[in-house]
Amino acid sequence: MRAVTRDNAALAAQNVTSFAESVVMAQSSTLLKNPVFCAVDTPDVGKATALAAKLADTVGGLKLGLEFFSANGPKGVQQVQKASDLPLFLDLKFHDIPNTVAGAVRSAAAAVKPFCMTLMAAGGRAMMEAAAKAATDVAHELIVPRPLLLAVTVLTSFDGDDLLETGVSGTVPDQVRRLAELAKLSGIDGVVCSPLEAEMLRRDLGPGFKLVTPGVRPAWAAANDQKRIMTPLEAMTAGADYLVIGRPISGADDPGAASARIALELVPVTSSTTPA
Ligand code: C5P
Repeated sequence: MRAVTRDNAALAAQNVTSFAESVVMAQSSTLLKNPVFCAVDTPDVGKATALAAKLADTVGGLKLGLEFFSANGPKGVQQVQKASDLPLFLDLKFHDIPNTVAGAVRSAAAAVKPFCMTLMAAGGRAMMEAAAKAATDVAHELIVPRPLLLAVTVLTSFDGDDLLETGVSGTVPDQVRRLAELAKLSGIDGVVCSPLEAEMLRRDLGPGFKLVTPGVRPAWAAANDQKRIMTPLEAMTAGADYLVIGRPISGADDPGAASARIALELVPVTSSTTPA
């Protein structure tokens, strides 16, 4: 009897694990067909949920960051998730002592089950290793999908002078490469980088390391304050796995049409990865 109970428990555990894995597979497949995360940069839940609903069929995922999270917390994120059911990129750029970042990764994974989330590579090896272990542990303990961890290397708002002021004498590309390599060694799944760094990082870090690029602008959209930009197709061709695009979609008169237009421009790279 006891053996049967144990078998049933093992079977149940296997089923929930398979369910969590199937969620990750479904989300990855959505993002293969459409690698665009729309950045939802607003503190307003109503605006964010309305935008999410409009984009449900034309982007691969949604990115919510510090502005939204600071105003609305996990409950606000859950409201946006209900409106679209798209994979979530939680961009909170954690940077603290290892124990605190590990706790933050656990809390976020449990509360909103993100597909991916960010931390600052400048937090160092111990912090990134603790975060990677926390992501794996929480996935097993709570049977939730393991979030991909993405390190931010050098903010794209930084130039060489900004680096020097913070005590780093190397060039921006050298520091990006150094921190990306450290992130990979520490068990992190990929980095957020400028599309102009994508080719170098793909070459130096290898094929499995995820590259996520903001600073992407379709030829027909305004650059806004982004300085070093590429078109969506150029960024993917340079080696990006996922793109983050905000204002060209969220600020368009018809966000659904703008994101559909971007998806169409990406067909040369997405059609080859879409399962038949
Ligand atoms: O509107 P836009 O397409 O410029 O939005 C880009 C998004 O990517 C914003 O949410 C911004 O905070 C984020 N981001 C960025 N550059 C980085 C990291 C994140 O633009 N290096």
